[in-house]
Amino acid sequence: MHASCCGLTTPGSRLVLSSGFDLRLESLGFASSWQLSIICSIDEPWSGCFAPTDPESLRSISFSSQLHSVSFRSFEQKLQVQPFRMSTVVRAESNSDKIPIDTSLNPRVNSVKLSKTMAITDKATALAQAGVPVIRLAAGEPDFDTPVVIAEAGINAVREGHTRYTPNAGTLELRTAICHKLKEENALTYTPDQILASNGAKQSILQAVLAVCSTGDEVIIPAPYWVSYPEMARLADAMPVILPTLISNNFLLDPKLLASKLSDKSRLLILCSPSNPTGSVYPKKLLEEIADIVSKHPRLLVLSDEIYEHIIYAPATHTSFASLPGMWERTFTVNGFSKAFAMTGWRLGYLAGPKHFVAACGKLQSQSTSGACSISQKAGVAALGLGYAGGDAVATMVKAFQERRDFLVKSFKELEGVKMSEPQGAFYLFLDFSFYYGTEAKGFGVIKDSESLCQYLLDQAQVALVPGDAFGDDNCIRISYAAALSSLQAAMERIKMALVLLRSPVPA
Ligand SMILES: Cc1ncc(COP(=O)(O)O)c(C=O)c1O
Repeated sequence: MHASCCGLTTPGSRLVLSSGFDLRLESLGFASSWQLSIICSIDEPWSGCFAPTDPESLRSISFSSQLHSVSFRSFEQKLQVQPFRMSTVVRAESNSDKIPIDTSLNPRVNSVKLSKTMAITDKATALAQAGVPVIRLAAGEPDFDTPVVIAEAGINAVREGHTRYTPNAGTLELRTAICHKLKEENALTYTPDQILASNGAKQSILQAVLAVCSTGDEVIIPAPYWVSYPEMARLADAMPVILPTLISNNFLLDPKLLASKLSDKSRLLILCSPSNPTGSVYPKKLLEEIADIVSKHPRLLVLSDEIYEHIIYAPATHTSFASLPGMWERTFTVNGFSKAFAMTGWRLGYLAGPKHFVAACGKLQSQSTSGACSISQKAGVAALGLGYAGGDAVATMVKAFQERRDFLVKSFKELEGVKMSEPQGAFYLFLDFSFYYGTEAKGFGVIKDSESLCQYLLDQAQVALVPGDAFGDDNCIRISYAAALSSLQAAMERIKMALVLLRSPVPA
């Protein structure tokens, strides 16, 4: 075998092997720029003992010349074909422009799911671009423009030459303004070195998770949750531990359930109030009960996502978790400009916490994105300058959100079978539609779950909504009311008409 392989060092030469040979690449004397291809031809058609779904794909297997020994026997095993049925051509070719590329991905990336909110938003956008009159209620962004004062601050920043790198943590001007806001509005005392500005609150959250969670740690996440929390835990090689909540309990975490799930592995509890996707607001008393449980676990840190803080409807009020006794030391307070200030595209968010943790997050940021956009930081300073809770500009938007919420709450209350917990904040309604599961529509089939219901509503009613399973609750669907009242009214009519067409399946 070895002798007869000598000719293989010439590109393009071929050798027919009968079965049973041991093929040793090291004996072929290939230089590293050569590649060996084994092309297998089968004498007989595939017989009953071997029925590959795609025989063609198995006929050629390439081994790179870095491999030192490939046994023909193992090749046979791969093909699961009896040796006497097989004759083999071995060919050496130059692979200077054919080096096989290793397309495998980091298993951590493979374990992460694509964001369904983004997927459905993209789908709805594509339909709209194709001329389908889709009403888009899937996206988590205000339909308002950024308030003029903020936008002008951004424009002026460019004009005045604030177009260079800023310090990694953000400009001192912005961090000082954030400290002032946190003191005035949240009763939280931080110094600028305890603040890290990032490209959106999403980056702040990811960096916090990566900075403190290690392999095997548990990240405690009440469900329904914002889609990215469990995926961020997975990126840190930590384990998301999902704690379900009940619609009848306004989707609020049951402290007893929390206490029963905590252990030495619990590293991070993520709270989101007001919540995306439910609109629930954690009352101070419940947060105090949670804090009491947290305080018994020295390893446990808390990430309090307060990005919807200003979008809140009286009588609900916002409490920052870090302001509770003993919680400052172990809490990351995350906030941003996207939602309340209608600044999603400016990509500006921030994190506040004990210096040790903030510095660790800053280290990650310094080796990835560096500081947030200099122009957005100037705009952020202007936003914080609008006054308490964003002043009139934000109050006007919140008033509009509240009107829309009231309209939808009233409308859905009139719909048969729909259960809801009236949202106290944010701009989402998370409705239990499971009453309709098991029904079917002519030409569509059975509504099995939240995904098929949203698909049906997109096809039939041309309304884009997000399936609840993306947020960890398959009974529900999420409606974003960051859209004009007239669009919501039209959507409501279309949804009603589509639901009327659903029928219980006729028993066989
Ligand atoms: C609960 C929650 N947290 C954080 C974010 C991230 O916001 P951004 O990165 O735009 O600041 C979002 C955005 O949808 C959100 O809904």
